[in-house]
Amino acid sequence: MKDVKIFDTTLRDGEQSPGCSMNLREKIEIAKCLEKLRVDVIEAGFAISSPGDFESVSTIASTVKDCSVASLARATVGDIDCAWDAVKHAVDPRIHLFIATSPLHMEYKLRMTPEQVLEKTVAMVAHASKYCSNIEFSAEDATRSDPEFLAKVVDVAIKNGAKVVNIPDTVGYTTPAEMRALIEYLNTNVENADTIEFSVHCHNDLGMAVANSIGGVMGGAKQIECTINGLGERAGNTSLEEVVMAMRTRADIIGATTRIDTTQIYRASKTVYNVIGQSAPLNKPIVGKNAFAHESGIHQHGVLANKQTYEILTPEAVGIHTNNIVLGKHSGRHAFETHLSDLGYNLSTDELERCFAEFKALCDKKKTINDADIEAIVMHKSAVEEPTTTDGYSLDWFAVHTSNFTTSTSTVCLLKDGEKFEGVSLGDGPIDASFKAIDNIINPPEHTFDIYTINSISEGKDTLGDVKVKLTCGNKTYVGRGLSTDIIEASIVAYINAINKLQSAENK
Ligand code: KIV
Ligand code: ZN
Repeated sequence: MKDVKIFDTTLRDGEQSPGCSMNLREKIEIAKCLEKLRVDVIEAGFAISSPGDFESVSTIASTVKDCSVASLARATVGDIDCAWDAVKHAVDPRIHLFIATSPLHMEYKLRMTPEQVLEKTVAMVAHASKYCSNIEFSAEDATRSDPEFLAKVVDVAIKNGAKVVNIPDTVGYTTPAEMRALIEYLNTNVENADTIEFSVHCHNDLGMAVANSIGGVMGGAKQIECTINGLGERAGNTSLEEVVMAMRTRADIIGATTRIDTTQIYRASKTVYNVIGQSAPLNKPIVGKNAFAHESGIHQHGVLANKQTYEILTPEAVGIHTNNIVLGKHSGRHAFETHLSDLGYNLSTDELERCFAEFKALCDKKKTINDADIEAIVMHKSAVEEPTTTDGYSLDWFAVHTSNFTTSTSTVCLLKDGEKFEGVSLGDGPIDASFKAIDNIINPPEHTFDIYTINSISEGKDTLGDVKVKLTCGNKTYVGRGLSTDIIEASIVAYINAINKLQSAENK
């Protein structure tokens, strides 16, 4: 059994995909989840790409203790220097530099000859090695490169100090057998290949990212690059939860193990979906609502007789709790806290206080409170915590008048710094009227309104409505969430939350 390292790039490749931008607080929250999950490397961002990225990479580098923190860099002195500046305070800093090696990329994107790419590799890997020994080199579009040329580039990268050599399938073009053969080829045709670790980084354009990563591991790769929920450019990257559970479940064939604490998978997945304002597709492997549901009579009968008839892994293994303990209005703070910790949430005293207050308020509206409700309260608390409760607006009260034969009206009263602001508007339905009333008060910066979704948290007509609102301003997206048994209230809170985030970013 060989050890395979998990390099998580949710905060870099994941964040750079459309609609997935995250603020500093959200990135730190995800980094902490990744640390708990026990990934080996967190790629925290691309330090040179913006001052915000630099700040988040350096903050994560000094926050995270139990894994390596990397920043991406192109093969230029400026990028490498900036990457090092951002990660240098990490316990185990890594510089990850890349240059493309395929004929298409070299000719049309880089406008460089293969010889120039070789020379750049030599010079830039050597430059990065002056800062630290933990250097990763990536040959972008490796799977569409000439294998002989690729071997030459890998050879000079190793000779100049690369300790990890990543073979990306940048456009999701390869197949599992091809990936396996390419890693085997490099292992046998590059001098000193046994002194470094090969890594694979597979995109999911043809839905084969997980299989291709496994192919790479079977060919000798010792690191997999992946993201929570498979986020990433276009169709995404290898999904961490799928590739880790595949290796664990089929260790007999794949022969590899990771140090991941799989019981943290569900929580990490929820946190990331929460931050980007999405939910797992119902049939998403490992974390989708239906991943462990058995609907047909034949399946249910089989599972009741012996779970293994239709289950190859258990929900508990990935941190999904099936013994839904029901709490209610008579449950005290201690029971609430104990139950939260059973679910894997250890909150600070302040956080616990706020969640308990929300839980008690919910008990007055809803008969039974289950794990999904409690998780929603905790996640919602973290989604709106900042800046809403610090420097933004919050909802004081609202009143709507709506029917199917008149135009809706909404009056909203917001609080900021102890002052009250009232706005009123007509609208095409109560939500539109409420959002316009809020705009009349706040007058937010120009933005587009991209997504509005409502999901029910649990079963029953008195379920909590979980509203997500996504706004775009420039190339940044801002996600707001609202949670209430009243969907108009949930919508208003979600919209205020998104506008607060937008305003706080614009005022920086
Ligand atoms: O897909 C890719 O090639 C990348 C590299 C920068 C590693 O993301
Ligand atoms: Zn990528």
